[in-house]
Amino acid sequence: MTTPLGIIGGSGLTQLANLAVTRREVVRTPYGEPSGALTFGELQGREVIFLARHGYGHTIAPHEVNYRATIWAMKDAGVERIVSVASVGGIGAGLGPGVIVIPHQILDYTWGRRSTYFEGPERPVTHIDFTHPYTESLRRSLLDAARVAGETVVADGVYATTQGPRLESAAEVDRLERDGATMVGMTGMPEAALARELDLAYAALAVVVNHAAGRGDSREGIRLEDIATILESAIARARHILEGLVVHDGHS
Ligand code: HPA
Repeated sequence: MTTPLGIIGGSGLTQLANLAVTRREVVRTPYGEPSGALTFGELQGREVIFLARHGYGHTIAPHEVNYRATIWAMKDAGVERIVSVASVGGIGAGLGPGVIVIPHQILDYTWGRRSTYFEGPERPVTHIDFTHPYTESLRRSLLDAARVAGETVVADGVYATTQGPRLESAAEVDRLERDGATMVGMTGMPEAALARELDLAYAALAVVVNHAAGRGDSREGIRLEDIATILESAIARARHILEGLVVHDGHS
C-alpha cells in the first residue's frame, strides 16, 4: 500500500482534471493555514492529495504563500512524496515556452520568507543536508512517467527562485545565467527546503511559459497574454505525466 502522492499545483494548475475528488478538508497547522483546503481524491485509482499553491482563486502571491503551513499540512495528511508543478521563465538554450523540465538543482534569491521549521527557543538548531535539493528517486520516477506517457521533458536544470511578484530585469536574468541557472520561478524556495526538513521526498515539474526577460521573444518585454495560452497546453501535458507517475508508483 503506497501513501498518497502530494501534488502542489502552481499557476495554471488550480485543479486536477480527472481527479475523482472524495473530500476537501480545511486544515490548520502550528504555522497557520495553507493556501486552501486540501483536496483528497483518486487519480487513475491511486490516492492523491492536491493543493493549489496560490489558492483556488489564484489570489496568493509567491512571496505571500505560507510555505511552512503547506508542507506541514501535506505531511500531516500522510503524504511522503510531493510533486510540485511550477511555471518558470526559460533561460538556458532550448528552454523555450512549452518545454517541461525536471530540475535537479536550485538557487535561492528570495528574502523575508519563513523558510525553516527549526527556529525559536523550543527547536534545536538543525542544519539539513541540501546538496541535492530534489529527491533523486522521485525525479527518476517523474522521468520514467514522462517516457511512458510519451511526453518529452528536459531531464535536468537549475531553478533560480526570485522573490517576485514582479518579473526580472534583463540584467538580473544575465546574472542568474552567470550563476548557473537555466530557469527562473518564484516558488521553488523555501518549499523544497521545508520538504527536506520534514523528511519528505520532493521533486518538481517546471513548465516553461515564457523566455526569461531579455531573452528570445521576451527581448522587449514579457507578454502575460502569451503566457496563458502556453500554460494551458503545457499543463495538460504535466497532468498526463502525473497520471503516469501515480500508476507507475502503484506497481513499484
Ligand atoms: N520569472 C519568474 N517567474 C516566472 C517567470 C519568469 O520569467 N515565468 C513564470 N514564472
